[in-house]
Amino acid sequence: MKLFTALSLFAAVDGATLTQLQDAVQSILSNGAHSSRQPNILFVITDDQDLELDSISYTPHITRHIRDRGTFFRNHFVTTALCCPSRVSLWTGRQAHNTNVTDVNPPYGGYPKFVERGFNDDFLPIWLQQAGYDTYYTGKMFNSHTVDNYHSPYINGFNGSDFLLDPYTYSYLNSTYQRNHEPPVSYEGEHTTDVITRKALGFLDDALDGERPFFLAVSPVAPHSNVDPNAISFGKIVMSEPIPLERHEHLFENVTIPRTANFNPDQPSGVNWIRDLPQQNQSVVEYNDHFYRSRLRALQGVDELVDSLVTRLQESDQLDNTYIIYTSDNGFHIGQHRLPPGKTCGFEEDIRVPLFIRGPGVPQGHVQDAVTTHIDLAPTFFHLAGIPAREDFDGTAIPITPSFDAERHEHVTVEYWGNAVVEGIFGGIGPDGSSKIPNNTYKSVRLLGEGYNLYYSVWCNNEHELYDLSTDPYQLHNLYPGTSQLSGGDTRILGRSISQAISRLDALLMVLKSCQGVTCIHPWNVLQPQDSVNTLSDALHTRYDGFYGAQPQVSFDWCDDGYIIEAEGPQVPLVSRYGVSWDVWV
Ligand SMILES: *[C@@H]1O[C@H](CO)[C@@H](O)[C@H](O)[C@H]1NC(C)=O
Ligand SMILES: *[C@@H]1O[C@H](CO)[C@@H](O)[C@H](O)[C@H]1NC(C)=O
Ligand SMILES: *[C@@H]1O[C@H](CO)[C@@H](O)[C@H](O)[C@H]1NC(C)=O
Ligand SMILES: *[C@@H]1O[C@H](CO)[C@@H](O)[C@H](O)[C@H]1NC(C)=O
Ligand SMILES: *[C@@H]1O[C@H](CO)[C@@H](O)[C@H](O)[C@H]1NC(C)=O
Ligand SMILES: *[C@@H]1O[C@H](CO)[C@@H](O)[C@H](O)[C@H]1NC(C)=O
Repeated sequence: MKLFTALSLFAAVDGATLTQLQDAVQSILSNGAHSSRQPNILFVITDDQDLELDSISYTPHITRHIRDRGTFFRNHFVTTALCCPSRVSLWTGRQAHNTNVTDVNPPYGGYPKFVERGFNDDFLPIWLQQAGYDTYYTGKMFNSHTVDNYHSPYINGFNGSDFLLDPYTYSYLNSTYQRNHEPPVSYEGEHTTDVITRKALGFLDDALDGERPFFLAVSPVAPHSNVDPNAISFGKIVMSEPIPLERHEHLFENVTIPRTANFNPDQPSGVNWIRDLPQQNQSVVEYNDHFYRSRLRALQGVDELVDSLVTRLQESDQLDNTYIIYTSDNGFHIGQHRLPPGKTCGFEEDIRVPLFIRGPGVPQGHVQDAVTTHIDLAPTFFHLAGIPAREDFDGTAIPITPSFDAERHEHVTVEYWGNAVVEGIFGGIGPDGSSKIPNNTYKSVRLLGEGYNLYYSVWCNNEHELYDLSTDPYQLHNLYPGTSQLSGGDTRILGRSISQAISRLDALLMVLKSCQGVTCIHPWNVLQPQDSVNTLSDALHTRYDGFYGAQPQVSFDWCDDGYIIEAEGPQVPLVSRYGVSWDVWV
């Protein structure tokens, strides 16, 4: 319309100088640019919400507003199944081995480590502000962001912020929030989800009033466990079931954890400390079912929060110019593999999380199978905002619209360092009677491609796992030689033997465990830069058997609590410099 006016003007004006015409067109075009701004982004990040345990079937507003009106990315994974490392990866677009924020507390993680690593001056909200966005945040940002350190320094990058602070982050009925540069405020007696709903709507109003496009992130604590810093039992803080809003307390009374094949199985499964877990008795199972219902109930407040936000956007004229992205920082297990409630594992329950995206051009009611990860989210926000990707991004933008022919990958790099943390009243199963289980350090690759669906991991005690999820979706049969009760001997992967598949997976993991930027996105190119190998399927060609057979193996020298390179065995794979022909390697 504007351009049409400009052209008519051009045609109508007779005898005007070229400069006058140019000025006229310029002024019309720049007015046009003002009225159609860059898209807004509303980002909702829940805490510990599973995909595998079916939580998304219990949130009708989220289904109606985002899932049905947008795309469900059903193969979306986190790369570290723990809040703080996962969030820092999300805000920087980098794997935890590149942020080196690998834990929830110092010295290896938490807010102080984020600051020490320089990210407070160099992360997503700052980049978005530089690209013309107004940025707002409310809810949980990091762990170890506390009533004592929130001002030293303040978190940068937000035009408006109201953060939950430790040790009250998970106190559903006594949360403490801290707004902009003001002192912390206690909300004793109010439900944290009511508080965040008010704050989120307030920021949405501010954002809608602004001249610039906005990025608003809302990070409620539900369905994370409740932690009352005063309720210490046996000398330990207990992470108990989440507390729903009163009006949701009685919902789902007959709902129980899905009884999948890996739910409290008769045979032990997994490796390391998981394989030693006893089968759960009836009282533990009943408690876990109660814990599960409490999570679903606590999520109802989030469902209503999303409804309020979308309704407010609808009342403005900005809904059609807003991308809404809904996800969680990591997944959750309860009872699978005999595990007490918690995350920190590499199983599907822990690493798969919901991801729904709606917005301009995003197909409605669509289910997308592409493999996507949290490392891809910062690149995706850049894509939406029209900013060129950074070279230090370890991921790549998610294909949100059919016209966007994104570069895809088939792998997910999963990594973890330090303690497993067990939740719930039966959580005191650590060696010292606490809820912390040491030596939960592992590296894994999750691979989904044409004809294969695999999980391969190497633990710091050098135990290995290999699950073929196409035949074993619940990860009960470890195919790694010498570990399975079943003989994995006749199982084949893409027609090749287990040991040939492992030689490729291990070499891939060798690259991924220290990859940076493009090598995280195209890991096979590191191994075989001269050959056209882009997938496991390509790499499994018999002509490469010698090359992969000669690779050093991923292994650990000891179990450490952080990313200590000296503990982590060989770092560099063999690289084929001139293209692999098998005779080079015999
Ligand atoms: C938001 O912050 C950025 C960076 O400081 C600034 O340029 C912009 O004007 C601010 N927006 C508003 C509405 O104050
Ligand atoms: C609630 O939190 C505040 C800190 O913000 C604390 O001073 C107060 O003691 C807490 N109340 C209870 C009942 O724990
Ligand atoms: C739950 O189960 C009980 C016992 O079978 C039944 O009486 C009750 O109606 C069920 N509640 C719901 C909400 O389905
Ligand atoms: C069930 O197991 C829990 C956790 O090990 C234990 O504390 C409890 O006493 C057991 N209950 C029964 C009835 O055996
Ligand atoms: C954890 O690993 C360390 C170092 O590898 C080892 O010394 C220690 O015994 C292990 N602890 C447990 C509980 O397995
Ligand atoms: C990660 O941080 C820890 C703690 O500061 C440090 O000891 C370690 O060397 C760092 N790792 C790398 C690879 O820089």
